[in-house]
Amino acid sequence: MDTRNFSLRHVGISKEDLPEMLHTVGVDSVDALLKEVYPNDIFLPKEIELPEPMTERELSEHMTELASRNTPYTSYIGLGWYDCITPAVIRRNVLENPVWYTSYTPYQAEISQGRLEALFNFQTVITELTGLPLTNCSLLDEATAGAEAAMLLFNRRSREQVKRGANKLFVDKRLFETTIAVINTRIVHQGMELVVGDYKETELTDEFFGVMLQYPDSVGAINDYPDFVAAIKEKGLTCAVAADLMSLVMLTPPGEWGADVVFGSAQRFGIPMYYGGPSAGYLACRMEYKREIPGRIIGLSKDAYGHPAYRLALQTREQHIKRERATSNICTAQALLASMSGFYAVYHGADGLIEIARRIHSYAGHLAKAAEELGYKQYNANFFDTLLFQLPEGKTTEELHRIALEYRVNLRYFECQNCFGVSIDETTLPEDLNILLQIFAETVGKEAPTLSDVPTDTLFVDKKWQRKSTFLQYDTFNKYRTETELMRYIKRLDRKDISLAHSMISLGSCTMKLNAAAELDVLSNPYFGNIHPYAPDDQAEGFLEMLHNLEGYLAAITGFDATSLQPNSGAAGEYTGLSTIRAYLIDKGETQRDVVILPASAHGTNPASASQAGFKTIIVDTDDKGDVDMEDFMKKTEQYKDHIAAIMITYPSTHGIFESNIVAICRRIHDCGGQVYMDGANMNAQVGYTNPGFIGADVCHLNLHKTFAIPHGGGGPGMGPICVKSHLKPFLPKHIVRYGNGANQVSAAPFGSAVIAGITYSYIRLLGIEGLKRATATAILNANYMAQRLKDTYGIVYSGEKGRVGHELILECRKLKEATGCDENDVSKRLMDFGYHAPTLSFPVHGTLMIEPTESESKAELDRFIEVMECIFQEAQEVAQGKADKEDNVLKNAPHPQYEVCADEWKHSYPRSKAAFPLPYLNDNKFWINVARIDNGFGDRNLLPAMCDCDAFFAELKEQQQQ
Ligand SMILES: Cc1ncc(COP(=O)(O)O)c(C=O)c1O
Repeated sequence: MDTRNFSLRHVGISKEDLPEMLHTVGVDSVDALLKEVYPNDIFLPKEIELPEPMTERELSEHMTELASRNTPYTSYIGLGWYDCITPAVIRRNVLENPVWYTSYTPYQAEISQGRLEALFNFQTVITELTGLPLTNCSLLDEATAGAEAAMLLFNRRSREQVKRGANKLFVDKRLFETTIAVINTRIVHQGMELVVGDYKETELTDEFFGVMLQYPDSVGAINDYPDFVAAIKEKGLTCAVAADLMSLVMLTPPGEWGADVVFGSAQRFGIPMYYGGPSAGYLACRMEYKREIPGRIIGLSKDAYGHPAYRLALQTREQHIKRERATSNICTAQALLASMSGFYAVYHGADGLIEIARRIHSYAGHLAKAAEELGYKQYNANFFDTLLFQLPEGKTTEELHRIALEYRVNLRYFECQNCFGVSIDETTLPEDLNILLQIFAETVGKEAPTLSDVPTDTLFVDKKWQRKSTFLQYDTFNKYRTETELMRYIKRLDRKDISLAHSMISLGSCTMKLNAAAELDVLSNPYFGNIHPYAPDDQAEGFLEMLHNLEGYLAAITGFDATSLQPNSGAAGEYTGLSTIRAYLIDKGETQRDVVILPASAHGTNPASASQAGFKTIIVDTDDKGDVDMEDFMKKTEQYKDHIAAIMITYPSTHGIFESNIVAICRRIHDCGGQVYMDGANMNAQVGYTNPGFIGADVCHLNLHKTFAIPHGGGGPGMGPICVKSHLKPFLPKHIVRYGNGANQVSAAPFGSAVIAGITYSYIRLLGIEGLKRATATAILNANYMAQRLKDTYGIVYSGEKGRVGHELILECRKLKEATGCDENDVSKRLMDFGYHAPTLSFPVHGTLMIEPTESESKAELDRFIEVMECIFQEAQEVAQGKADKEDNVLKNAPHPQYEVCADEWKHSYPRSKAAFPLPYLNDNKFWINVARIDNGFGDRNLLPAMCDCDAFFAELKEQQQQ
């Protein structure tokens, strides 16, 4: 083995494995297989140009060199990002722990209890700090949370408001500019009107349905909102409040003074600034909004034996079910960051958080006092951490700015020449305050005062704003104060979860490939971590070079001309791509183009994105082979010809097949005057051999957290950059702060989740084009190998013209159900007893399992998974043959938790060994499950999204147990 060739570490199949695999598949070579898989008109005529692959060592040196060109200054800029301390115990045991970062969104709740509990902790923090009872386990960032809040208020309009067409949302001008820009991008498509003004002056007529405020506001002031909120309530308006989570530790929660929705960012709960992201956005609301709240909610429920167990609650709200009628579109969120922020609160508890928040506040107050002695005026009468200063008469910020840079300090500057802002954070020390005073003093030519023994708990805020309610009094937030205890708590949780650290996760359409350690190093490098997104460019040279080069690589790989890294998930990418198309059409004067064509098999996020971007959706049937039904396609495109804005198409299709009509489909849409949007979720089957640009698309999004090695993090972070042809380039998202233009802006930070772009960058640099092609070809080989091995038992639902699948395969389970009574869900749960995560369940075809092996799995692991699937198939046959009971069998009762297998009493008609150790390898390596099959309905009927109000829930549970 060439130990310098990293692609041989990334790809699981070796040269030695090939002959047997090719023989099974029935081809002479991988190239021969690819010719049978791809339609021959889509092969790229020439190689994509990318830099030569690096060794791990070379990558490390290269990233160190880039990092050395980032200069993290001390930033007091604020505006939604604050330096903070990630406790090392959380960094090492969560952020750098593959069990946490490689697990998937917890759809399979029985093997996800650890991260579900961590996310439940996060939800508890959010509900308690905001003073509202319902929340989700993260949104993409503060600005998109603001857009979700706007939609929520709109969807909750009263009947009278709907009747009279009340469509105006009032947004106070004191919100962060970025939040306003992103809300504007979003709501304009929904027929809402955004009115930005001063809450003290604007008259709210009948045309308004809601109001948005920020607390403390964008310059740091705490305004007297309660009377205003009471007055708008009288008029039947609702109110959403953007709030700094750390400030709520000290300040009266908005939920206590009338807010219906509170949203913001949890970044300063232990997440580095990362040049903008990722970190978790949050949104809390009143319980009545439970049918409309966006995002994933973790709720407590019970398992088959009545034990409490966590699961995703109220899933019928989501785009996977509601599709174009969905009120939001969150698939990938920020789970890993939400878990980390939850642990930050668990580690510090209420006392620790109070100490941190008070210290921040107290330091800000003492700084203000000392600055005032130098002649500076501080405007915020009430504040938490952010001060708004005016320089003494005759002085301008130009001089201050120059001196601050000499001291490696970033302040917030305004357009007016004599004001500036300072936001204090958790990392600020008395020495830092003295440096600030030194800067202030030098600017005005005075001697700097020195602060010593700065008190850490002086309150500078009026009594009426001081929080009186207690919070986080539960055991979990009181037990883990020492590092040993927290480390063990994190370990206890991670033992409950299956991740890539345990076994292959064959989720179709999710590409759970290797997330290599070397690629992830960037996340722990403080020279990438501690940079504020609004730091001047010369402090982020390395970052900018990396991001710029990555944009180029992604454009080259997709065959397009430009890239935007802003979208923070695939769904956000879809929405961004469609908004870009919309802006282009408006610019062309083709506003009548309001239809998006979608194949029936489209992922739920596609129709949801189309309707969020303000389009109508028209569904085209798929035929028996799983391809777009060309007859229906031609009919519909004829019917809507002049109204087609775009088609959204996934390629290879969500059925895992490279449709041979794809080029003709693109051409037809163009002939109709529409644009082709390619959903890049399946890009892993294209990279290096073909690409959306060559095939004929105009725009695509990429799920960097699938194809390009960013881990899934248990449900995020993700990145969904879009790549476009040149005619769409002028309409790509801008950024209000970075470019002074917020057109089409879709995320708070200019480059979205900038730091994780470094993972993809590293992946591409390690593999080079040769390695990327090896990955693509092997992913296709592995899927076809599996298809051949499983076709005679379960059966494969779709294959292409030459009988081949693409990079994934859909396993037939409907026949199994007919013959044995065991369905795809039973197979999924039984896989857990073997230590495996289920493939994708009933998507895109009901009654099936979709398997995507990816290129990173070894042949031994593929063979073991096949053996397990065959074993489960045989177990189901035992039911058909009458050897196993129809109800009391290993599939129906799966999974078998440890407490059941080890109990003194065993009630089943089959032995314990069959339940828990059905194959010999399990004697060596058993993954123990801690809950039995979870009751989905119970958790929804008794929704419990946080630790408060547990009493009623447990009373109901007890009553049921007694029955
Ligand atoms: C085909 C397809 N499109 C879009 C998405 C949405 O991506 P994300 O989860 O990043 O929002 C997915 C996610 O599974 C997908 O499979």
